[in-house]
Amino acid sequence: MWIFLNDRFVRKKDALISVFDHGFLYGDGVYETLRAYGGRIFRLRQHLARLSRSASLIGLDIPFVEQDFITVLREAMKRNDLSDAYLRITISRGEGNIGLDPRLCPYPTVVVISLPLQPYPVELFNTGVSLALVNVRRNLAAALPPMIKSLNFLNNILAKQEASRAGGFDGLMLNGEGHIAECTTSNIFFVKDGCVYTPSVACGILDGITRETVLSLAREQALPTEEGRYRPDALLEADECFLTNTTMEIMPVQDIDKRPIGKERPGPVTDRLRELFRANLPRFLE
Ligand code: PDD
Repeated sequence: MWIFLNDRFVRKKDALISVFDHGFLYGDGVYETLRAYGGRIFRLRQHLARLSRSASLIGLDIPFVEQDFITVLREAMKRNDLSDAYLRITISRGEGNIGLDPRLCPYPTVVVISLPLQPYPVELFNTGVSLALVNVRRNLAAALPPMIKSLNFLNNILAKQEASRAGGFDGLMLNGEGHIAECTTSNIFFVKDGCVYTPSVACGILDGITRETVLSLAREQALPTEEGRYRPDALLEADECFLTNTTMEIMPVQDIDKRPIGKERPGPVTDRLRELFRANLPRFLE
């Protein structure tokens, strides 16, 4: 397996970084997860733009322009002979002495990992997944803006652990005000009386690229949509619920804390959106 490290492709065994890398010491860095279908990358520009935004929000200068990443991503898939791929770009602050000051790290560390995509089991898409409403709250946006897709994932990891203990596939986090925020690596939607609802970005969530794609597909079809602030009760009374992210696309939710959502799973609107997503996929690939 070939890994891109800073300025070249190296074998996995040689893809090593320093124990003084601030990504390792402090979780100081940013990343993106992308997905390729048949060698073509889903919403490539949007992912690279979000990477650049994350880096800029932490004052990290990326030594690459957009086209450099595109070249590396394509080369990574070619070298590893990948068609349906999981792609991850990680940029850490780089190596530096102990201390929080980013000026200790003159050169960021850039890593691109490309792996065969491990799709979620088909049964999950047929039955839907179980969520646990966790006690861990989504980071306060004023403390660590969720708009930064950072290497610092402990907030989400604590939520994931809590969900696993409760027997959930994933944990649903509320924000500091008790409104629904998002799951540990996905955005959440619910459907009530034909309207598609999702927490607004102002709830302190990552503005998922799949979320935005689903919203725009729904709007193109004149399906009613609403972004807002919702309490968990609204979700528990919903007809349908689903999650979105780059690797899972649209995943139906069966129950939350063992309370079933709706009667049919997946529900008709979720099914329709999944069909729309698949049918329109080619125009989102590059
Ligand atoms: N996660 N919310 C969080 C906290 C996420 O980490 C992600 C993405 C999303 C969905 O974003 P998108 O639709 O752009 O994938 C929402 C990726 C898959 C990850 O961490 O690997």
